[in-house]
Amino acid sequence: MWKNIGFKENPYDTKPLKVLKSDVDLLMGRESEQINFLTAIEVDSQGVFILSGVPGVGKTSFFNIQQYLLESGDALFGPQILAARTLCPIQTSDEPKNIVLRCIQSYCKSIEEYCISNKIKIPDQCIKVQAWVYQNKPATLNLGFSVMGNGLNFGREVHLPSVSDTTFETFVEIIGNLSIAVKEQIGFTGSFIVLDNIENLHVEDLHDCLTTFRDTLFTVPNIWWIIIGQSGLSSLIQSTNPKVFQRLSGSIELKPITIENLIKAVNIRVERFHLTETNGKSPITEETYLKLFESSNGEIRFVFKYCQEICVHLVQVVRKLLIAEKINIDDKSFQKFMGKFLVQKQIDNKFANDCLKEIITDEFNGLYLTQQEKRVLKKIGLLKKVKPKDFAEFKEFGIDTMQRFTNNFLTKLHSQQLLFRRQEGTAVTYELRGISVFAQEFELLD
Ligand SMILES: Nc1ncnc2c1ncn2[C@@H]1O[C@H](COP(=O)(O)OP(=O)(O)O)[C@@H](O)[C@H]1O
Ligand SMILES: [Mg+2]
Repeated sequence: MWKNIGFKENPYDTKPLKVLKSDVDLLMGRESEQINFLTAIEVDSQGVFILSGVPGVGKTSFFNIQQYLLESGDALFGPQILAARTLCPIQTSDEPKNIVLRCIQSYCKSIEEYCISNKIKIPDQCIKVQAWVYQNKPATLNLGFSVMGNGLNFGREVHLPSVSDTTFETFVEIIGNLSIAVKEQIGFTGSFIVLDNIENLHVEDLHDCLTTFRDTLFTVPNIWWIIIGQSGLSSLIQSTNPKVFQRLSGSIELKPITIENLIKAVNIRVERFHLTETNGKSPITEETYLKLFESSNGEIRFVFKYCQEICVHLVQVVRKLLIAEKINIDDKSFQKFMGKFLVQKQIDNKFANDCLKEIITDEFNGLYLTQQEKRVLKKIGLLKKVKPKDFAEFKEFGIDTMQRFTNNFLTKLHSQQLLFRRQEGTAVTYELRGISVFAQEFELLD
């Protein structure tokens, strides 16, 4: 599909940047965040670091590039730490025990991937732990070392029950053992383990998990825990869980990159993925993608997603035209027809806007919002920003309590990605987000 518009690969790929040398140059801006992050990591051999920001702002990408730089030793400074190639995703109903088990699986996977790609022997513990988790049967593990007490105790045999009967503490001990194997056998000073998308936990569950982890997981030697979550996460922890907050080694709230950096980010991808190597242009004009950037409050993922969809839409339109006119869909006819929609090799702004309208309308209608929900959204758009406390403003829609406003509207619309949620301490505000900004512009809320 991309070759029809002159590309080897999708220049608007929405997937996060990976722990790869070739991805380093695709990360724009973030210089100051990088220094803050590397300095925080350099201070200690273990710790907990919070990386927060709105969805799609670039948290995972930022972190993966820092991981690449630290692991490879290419960073300006900082220790050599094994990257977490597999992140541990957090799900809504997770209990601490599920999370720690998933951490073990992700950690083993990361160790394995590193060893395979660098052609070195995978530590025995890692293989045995993986087999034990996979088989879910009692097993005797020669954990190699004991991390309990002080000093290393070699060749200790441990009898483990099946995974489902294993206690939280034992899981923690296993992580400690793996971390020693990474240090002793692979030669890193430490390892990253990443809890990704922690916003999936409800506030109370987040509190319980962090309290459980504080004196257990978070004290394992040589492990750097990175918690990736929603905007304002660190101030939320500060106000709801001060003891955990004191344990944190640092935090960064990622703000949207600048417009200049977004333009650079698009240009470098176009340059890298264009077929003819020279004179490649972004199929979507700057005007269109900057409008997407602005409407989404700086979410790069949103920008790339709709740029990609407009391109797909264009190719679909041209294919349909060719078929309707009974012309072969070969490259030559394709290029000829493409010309109708392109101005200097870029998709005409009017066409892009019409596509966007069609795409957003379909997507928005697919949510089957009630008339009342649409009108509430429209009003939020007029007010720009609302708090749960503002429920009285919405009396005309039969909303008479803060709880009803929050549960039936704010939380629901936020989970449908129609509202943007900002957190400062325990205070929360909501604004229209991405699709709903366009829904308002395209008059879909009336
Ligand atoms: N600083 C950046 N420069 C260029 N592209 C970026 C940058 N940060 C993120 N991206 C791109 O934005 C998209 C979303 O990034 P991602 O890291 O998945 O966001 P998040 O983890 O915050 O949801 C990806 O396509 C990624 O390649
Ligand atoms: Mg992410």
